[in-house]
Amino acid sequence: MAQFKPVRKAVFPVAGLGTRFLPATKAMPKEMLPINDRPLIQHVYEEARDAGIEEFIFVTGRQKEMLEEHFDYQPELMQTLEARGKEDMVKKVRDCEMPAGKLFLTRQPCPLGLGHAIWCAKKLIGDEPFAILLPDDLVLNKQGCLSQMIDVYNKNGGNVVAVKNVPKEDTSKYGIVDTDNEGDKTVSIKGLVEKPDPANAPSTLSIVGRYILQPEVLDHLAAFETGAGNEIQLTDSMAKLIGYQPFHGLRFDGDHFDCGSRLGFIEANIAYGLADKDIGNNVKTILKNYS
Ligand code: G1P
Repeated sequence: MAQFKPVRKAVFPVAGLGTRFLPATKAMPKEMLPINDRPLIQHVYEEARDAGIEEFIFVTGRQKEMLEEHFDYQPELMQTLEARGKEDMVKKVRDCEMPAGKLFLTRQPCPLGLGHAIWCAKKLIGDEPFAILLPDDLVLNKQGCLSQMIDVYNKNGGNVVAVKNVPKEDTSKYGIVDTDNEGDKTVSIKGLVEKPDPANAPSTLSIVGRYILQPEVLDHLAAFETGAGNEIQLTDSMAKLIGYQPFHGLRFDGDHFDCGSRLGFIEANIAYGLADKDIGNNVKTILKNYS
């Protein structure tokens, strides 16, 4: 089997304003909104860590300091929990401690688009393949979505995105892939369009916020070309790699939640609550009150 350069780095674009959750996100980063017992950013951090990622790159912006604090060591809190014998809580807090030398921060000064956010991490990414995880998108599954994608990458190399079918009328909300084997689990991608009108969409297979990309995408992003919504779109630069490098989409296993929408956020809280070994049964019981 061919050996491809390992995916060691992951980029987390966290500079977004979170306007859909105002006023909750007036002073608090939207990535700190909790799904069950942990904030969105921790869910995606754990997914990346469990997939073997070694370096975590946050593309942040104004009023996002809480995100770095969340992953820092909190000695007073730990001492208090240990003194009280709260071992389960100690374990939970440890889970969101970033080991020394693993967290890297860069800033996106203006919201010019997802492609621009990734370009801001260019120096930290360097010349190796890297992952991107959008904290709005959560996938609930035993084997995390990124880990499943790394399995596909280890077979094919090149670029891999997570994909799922959406209703035809929703294609204008997502990046949409063009493929000849739409029904397969791993699809070969021959085109990508950002937020096409349903009438022009090449398929109904949309990109979910997980990517494994080759560093050459950064050269295309550096052109700062704007696309859909007048933003610098990651999808447009990814499309330029097609034909030069392998490009696959993975229909991942697991339930996907768009936590960037209020409805998706509430649904994710229900699903993660139900899946929780401590409170799952009680969540099921209280839900009966609302059906
Ligand atoms: C971004 C990408 C889009 C992708 C989506 C997944 O869009 O540009 O291609 O389908 O994330 O969540 P956004 O949600 O930032 O509009």
